[in-house]
Amino acid sequence: AVERTLSIVKPDAVAKNVVGEIYSRFEKAGLRIVAAKMLRLSRTQAEGFYAEHKGRPFFPALVDFMTSGPVTVQVLEGENAIAKNRELMGATNPKEAEPGTIRADFAESIDANAAHGSDSPASAEREIAYFFATSEICERD
Ligand code: CMP
Repeated sequence: AVERTLSIVKPDAVAKNVVGEIYSRFEKAGLRIVAAKMLRLSRTQAEGFYAEHKGRPFFPALVDFMTSGPVTVQVLEGENAIAKNRELMGATNPKEAEPGTIRADFAESIDANAAHGSDSPASAEREIAYFFATSEICERD
């Protein structure tokens, strides 16, 4: 089915100037960018986005990292977009990511891991609404 998913290019990848290379991977895989913006997350925004991880030992470091510099947030649309984006990213820990994936190629550590992608239809819906008004998402054909 055609799905939408929320993608974030994290501060490490923005700092490395590989936003375009990462977008290119999405496009080459048949995902369409239907909304996009760059922003610097506030602590409140980062904590709210990652609320499900609150209480985990890595939560403070995650919030520190996600607020350390600008990110891009985008909505990707396409057949099986949620799983396809996660395949393109590779494992959360770049040391375990398959060669040729975004995290294997651009990430340094489990914290600075280049990209985020929604992990289920329910989280995609929540995460897209967290960053985008319906009017900011563009219909494409
Ligand atoms: P992300 O997909 O953005 O979701 C939560 C993030 O927490 C994850 O990517 C990692 O960057 C970070 N993180 C750090 N340590 C862990 C861990 N042990 N398990 C899962 N995520 C972790």
